[in-house]
Amino acid sequence: MMNTPQNITILGATGTIGRQTLDVMARHPEKFRAFALTANSSVGELLALCLQFDPQYAVLLDADAAQILEQKLSAAGSATQVLHGISSLEFVSAHPAVDTVMAAIVGAAGLKPAIAAAQAGKRILLANKETLVMSGSLFMLAVEQGGATLLPIDSEHNAIFQVMPPVKSRNLHESGIKRILLTASGGPFRDTDADALSLVTPQQALKHPNWVMGPKITIDSATLMNKGLEVIEAHWLFNATPDQIEVVVHPQSVIHSMVEYIDGSVLAQMGNPDMRTPIAYALGYPDRLESGVNTLDLFKIGHFDFQKPDTGKFPCLRLAFEALRAGGTAPAVLNAANEVAVAAFLKQEIGFMDIARMIESALSDARIVQADTLDIVIDADMHAREAAVQWVMKH
Ligand SMILES: NC(=O)c1ccc[n+]([C@@H]2O[C@H](COP(=O)([O-])OP(=O)(O)OC[C@H]3O[C@@H](n4cnc5c(N)ncnc54)[C@H](OP(=O)(O)O)[C@@H]3O)[C@@H](O)[C@H]2O)c1
Repeated sequence: MMNTPQNITILGATGTIGRQTLDVMARHPEKFRAFALTANSSVGELLALCLQFDPQYAVLLDADAAQILEQKLSAAGSATQVLHGISSLEFVSAHPAVDTVMAAIVGAAGLKPAIAAAQAGKRILLANKETLVMSGSLFMLAVEQGGATLLPIDSEHNAIFQVMPPVKSRNLHESGIKRILLTASGGPFRDTDADALSLVTPQQALKHPNWVMGPKITIDSATLMNKGLEVIEAHWLFNATPDQIEVVVHPQSVIHSMVEYIDGSVLAQMGNPDMRTPIAYALGYPDRLESGVNTLDLFKIGHFDFQKPDTGKFPCLRLAFEALRAGGTAPAVLNAANEVAVAAFLKQEIGFMDIARMIESALSDARIVQADTLDIVIDADMHAREAAVQWVMKH
């Protein structure tokens, strides 16, 4: 008997993760079908993907871009329906025909569609870590109440998921786990002198030594904010306290993270730094799928190194731990200020070390409250963005 293919919505289909998801899906056409592909405003890129993968829906956030896409698709004889706006992103995330949603929009913009998928009980492949950073408790509640299945795509969290047994209780220690060792490459400036960091340019920061990623996460990797966001993500996904999460700099990016058990065992997941491994793992779960990733050549790698992160040189990691400990809306403020700061750095309006200064200032100025509703989170996000924009104008 033939199984029907899973219907997949890819939020952020034109991005790095979106394209790699389509790459893995295309290797298994009998298992996966693109139901909806979405983007912000990249008409040409989304058009090409629609012509290749023939989804039922294409969604662009931008209304004008959607109109152009619709004209081009109909001229090409395509039956793909074009929609626009945030409610359409939610529509294709919660549609009854959808089995799986790949949440790969970058930044806070991914929050609402991810929540819609959770409430509709979908299988969610979560790349958009900002959703958990902003609204961890609300999102996890929506997953539980909606009966959704959450599979982490971030390579570190996917690694932890792979080496963690089904947890018996929400208390990690009762499940035999002592701590999580979250690995970090250290980014392109791992060995750069602290004094030289203020002179770093966007071009230098956009060159990651091991991973090919979108611009925002690449800058986050250079400041170590990406690791900070991942610490908060690990807290929500695995119910780990801040003290149970240790960041370990591992420049080779082959060990994607580790779990230490109370008996002294440390289990690691390894592989080449290629996001198609965690994507294939989550698409196929619980089965394994061929992903196109090269065989790991341990002889070529030769050795593994480990270092403690330098939070003096990279204050963003410290700020993320502080926001996690503060709780409530603090992580949403951290995330919003970081998004504005990264965009300003890319436009050369502020320096590299100003990113952390801006976030620290936003966190100390914000009124941190309980993150009880989505409106409260969105309000905190909006105020932090306004404060961050003011900071850029003043400096
Ligand atoms: N890349 C990686 O290796 C990696 C690894 C782990 C986790 N992640 C996480 O995965 C997410 C995506 O990262 P990425 O590197 O794939 O980003 P990316 O290459 O910049 O792609 C972002 C995608 O989101 C869409 N988008 C941007 N702003 C939007 C908005 N306001 N509304 C709707 N769609 C919007 C973009 O559409 P347009 O093309 O129209 O702009 C694009 O499709 C991020 O949360 C990142 O932290 C990425």
